[in-house]
Amino acid sequence: MNVLILGSGGREHAIACAVARSSRCSRLFVAPGNAGTSAVAENVALAIDDFDAVGSFCVSHHVEMVVVGPEAPLVGGIADHFAQTPRLSHIKVIGPQRSGAMLEGSKDFAKAFMQRHNIPTARYQTFTRDTLNDGLAFLTTMQAPYVLKADGLAAGKGVLIEPNIDAAQQALKDMLCADKFGSAGSSVVIEQYLDGIELSVFVLTDGSHYLILPSAKDYKRIGEADTGLNTGGMGSISPGPFADKEFMKKVEDRIVKPTVRGLKSEEISYKGFIFIGLMNCGGDPYVIEYNARMGDPESESVFPRIKSDVVELFEHTAEGTLDLCSLSIDSRTAACVMLTAGGYPESYRKGDVIDIGADNADTQVFHCGTKHDTEGHLITNGGRVMCVTALAHSLPEALMKSYNRVHDIKWDGMYYRRDIGQDLLKLLI
Ligand code: AMP
Ligand code: GLY
Repeated sequence: MNVLILGSGGREHAIACAVARSSRCSRLFVAPGNAGTSAVAENVALAIDDFDAVGSFCVSHHVEMVVVGPEAPLVGGIADHFAQTPRLSHIKVIGPQRSGAMLEGSKDFAKAFMQRHNIPTARYQTFTRDTLNDGLAFLTTMQAPYVLKADGLAAGKGVLIEPNIDAAQQALKDMLCADKFGSAGSSVVIEQYLDGIELSVFVLTDGSHYLILPSAKDYKRIGEADTGLNTGGMGSISPGPFADKEFMKKVEDRIVKPTVRGLKSEEISYKGFIFIGLMNCGGDPYVIEYNARMGDPESESVFPRIKSDVVELFEHTAEGTLDLCSLSIDSRTAACVMLTAGGYPESYRKGDVIDIGADNADTQVFHCGTKHDTEGHLITNGGRVMCVTALAHSLPEALMKSYNRVHDIKWDGMYYRRDIGQDLLKLLI
């Protein structure tokens, strides 16, 4: 079948490589894609928020499956659009309808969902401009540090963790009364701080059945030793720390099962990925957030470990028969190191020529913000530019292979963290 992947990052390049390996895929398109996806698929210059244009492309190119990478089209209702449009309704969309994507699109919706289904998460309340004074008072009942979250999509920047009550109260006023995060912050969730180690868990569900994909750890801060500004993610390791059988059984019983059952009982159509960001607090998992998509750069360490045919998994997802599938996972560890443009996550330059070095069998390079210029040179085209993933039987070996390949790549201002995985190595000792 012909498959279309929507998105342009490293996640979409990793998904494209997995789909391209499938014997069930005839033609593979990525819209809009990047220089990396053009090597495994045909890039298509489509605006992915223009659902009519995406639909017309699918009809004219006999696309039978659309895999949605980022959250915005999901929250915008692309799966609903396909389901409700007669000429598109036969096309399998991997990604939930809008009602399901609200698990990511509204923190308040997600928290209320967790409460309804007894899913462990931090204690919280939600406030608006009209209830600002209640919010200020609620903060005084909490303990430092204070966690404030803009309710809506804020490109990963909507969470503030404030060390003292004055800063927290000021932040609440800024969000509710000074539009600090625009309309995304017109409601604010205030929640208890969870102290622990984070883990990203990924689930593929058809709305009734589910498969738990490999877990991962993401490195969010720009600076080494987790310092500096938040980024989209500077690297990832799969499997994540503490994701042993005992912990994952708790995750499955206390979080995955009630989440899938809860969606079903609320008649929310969900055929796609659920990304559960959780905190391991003293051996017990608590949900920090849901996302309605795969993570980036987690995908770049998770997909290389999936040995099953992903197109077959996606077909069963769309048909509601995921119970007929099992997962085959590479037991090796994957280490992914992200390379960024200098200045990222603040302002950065685009258009620098990339010397990508020579491919080797040990590593995979996934492109994020790259393109070819009119002369065919590979150039930077985003803050996160590309990442390198290596698989090996041990984490130190995976890291060594990854960093060896990184050292072959060059452009003006290139930056990367040299300490990806180091915290986990300390845990292993
Ligand atoms: P989110 O956008 O919800 O993933 O939040 C961004 C980051 O803020 C998370 O990855 C956590 O590191 C941190 N965070 C969010 N909520 C909490 C919480 N309740 N306690 C501690 N850290 C949190
Ligand atoms: N790496 C975190 C995310 O994709 O949201």
